[in-house]
Amino acid sequence: MKQFIRYRFSSILGVVGAGQMGTGIAIVGSAVAGLKVRVVDVNEQRLQASHTFIDKWCDKEIQKNRMTNQLKTDVLSRFSFHLKISDLSCCDFVVEAAPEKFEMKAEIFKQLVQVTNPETILASNTSSISITKLAGLTNRADRIIGMHFMNPVPVMKLIEVIKGIQTSQETLDKTLELANKMKKEIVIAQDIPGFIANRILMPYINEAIQTLYEGIGTVEGIDKAMKLGTNVPMGPLTLADFIGLDTCLEIMKVLHQDLGDSKYRPCPLLVNYVNAGWLGKKSGRGFYKY
Ligand code: CAA
Repeated sequence: MKQFIRYRFSSILGVVGAGQMGTGIAIVGSAVAGLKVRVVDVNEQRLQASHTFIDKWCDKEIQKNRMTNQLKTDVLSRFSFHLKISDLSCCDFVVEAAPEKFEMKAEIFKQLVQVTNPETILASNTSSISITKLAGLTNRADRIIGMHFMNPVPVMKLIEVIKGIQTSQETLDKTLELANKMKKEIVIAQDIPGFIANRILMPYINEAIQTLYEGIGTVEGIDKAMKLGTNVPMGPLTLADFIGLDTCLEIMKVLHQDLGDSKYRPCPLLVNYVNAGWLGKKSGRGFYKY
């Protein structure tokens, strides 16, 4: 078994999933926390896109005088990109940031417990799936935790930390230590569907879509009402496009199924858009065209 030093990051953070969340987590891991970061994705093109995004992000930081060329070289040198989960065997903390589908996350967790050291903490960036349920699939439930980052990760200040019923205090402490290194604010939520942020945000977005569905306002009108009327940075339909309509739908389904209350029923218009492949900004069309 590899040597593991307790309460000290060996400075290798694993990130599973090179999408917008995984890439953002990788950025704060390397650029803010100063850790070595291994990013894994089964899709080579996504890994390449992630690498390009990080490179451009560093260039923007340089333009804003927040990074030097030398720092960029250091940040990039701490990254590596991989196609196999087994390449995370040297990591002592892994954050899973795969799409919001239980079966996919369950499969990743099953593989992660096989390839990593038993002491390795496995965090999920899930937006709504039960940490306790994911932990139940592993033989180290005490080392499984939720670390819910907000999008865009480098900009948003919060990480919602979710303690499953078997998560140990040591795991929680180490997760808070990592979040602090990433210079994020923390809120601890109970492991109940949607946790805090999405329990409130997703019904709000779903209701905005229902408002459109019922013809009460236009896309622009609904966004304008909420943006200028409640001083939020984005209207709810813009925000839904930004998050991804598929992600919004998956979260609503979890709230609906697991809480069993009809008030969480996903709006049929949201279902239709996802079925049409109109997933928001990432697919070029959602409530707006991009
Ligand atoms: N990655 C990194 N940085 C980004 C970024 C990205 N994808 N998008 C924007 N930024 C940065 C910009 O570089 C800029 O940085 P500086 O201020 O340092 O120059 C800053 O964000 C502001 O960007 P812009 O000026 O281009 O645009 P803006 O003022 O409209 O801000 C925004 C963009 C930060 C995204 C803002 O609109 C916002 O806060 N929107 C709400 C975002 C939100 O609610 N996120 C949570 C979603 S819910 C979630 O994530 C949880 C879940 O489970 C679904």
